[in-house]
Amino acid sequence: MRALLLLAAIAAPIALAEPTAREVQDIHLRDFHTKGVVKKETVAQDGVQRICTLANDHPSAEVTKQLEADQMKTITFPSGSLMGDWKRGEDIAQSGRGMTFSDAPGTPNGGSCYNCHQMAATEISYGTLGPSLHGFGSKRGSGEDTQKYVYGKIYNAKAYNACSQMPRLGFSGTLTDQQIKDLVAYLLDPASPVNR
Ligand code: HEC
Repeated sequence: MRALLLLAAIAAPIALAEPTAREVQDIHLRDFHTKGVVKKETVAQDGVQRICTLANDHPSAEVTKQLEADQMKTITFPSGSLMGDWKRGEDIAQSGRGMTFSDAPGTPNGGSCYNCHQMAATEISYGTLGPSLHGFGSKRGSGEDTQKYVYGKIYNAKAYNACSQMPRLGFSGTLTDQQIKDLVAYLLDPASPVNR
């Protein structure tokens, strides 16, 4: 009994001490190591991530607007059609491969979209951190403006929502332009399972 009380006395203050964002970042930088294709630098935050962390994801409206404008400048929209092949897009959306220490350099990366979004009605498992994208094209259309928005959102989600939790898949070099176009088609093409 005495041992238990002692344990409770020791455990209580430890449980209360929440690390600050800066301490968490220091722990990441101390404990993550470069291994294979995974580079330690990827855990270091850049300016926009840092500001979002320090502002608890709610910087002032003025700062948010400026951050989004800066992120928008990182996007290069390819000329010509942004609609690729929805079948290839489906494979990319449902793949979480690539960028792990056991992947050979040059392995094509997946988009890991399924980790956060429902997309097709037939999926039995998907994450819910992001909104469901099922029926996205049916609801939003597949015109040029929507194609451009979806391309840009996948390329750099922070250009539209500074503190978005969605990864910046083009900006980070995770996905190629062609892969992003294939994903645009997967979300917008009326024949895609997303819109059936
Ligand atoms: C780590 C989670 C995560 C991953 C992975 C992710 N997203 Fe997202 N996505 C989100 C969140 C959260 C939102 C809503 C907030 C926002 O708009 O930034 C979102 C929003 C979106 C939107 C805008 C929806 C709207 O109604 O305008 C699109 C389109 C989208 N994601 C597509 C994708 C695609 C395609 C992929 C894969 C390449 C992907 N997302 C991967 C979390 C994620």
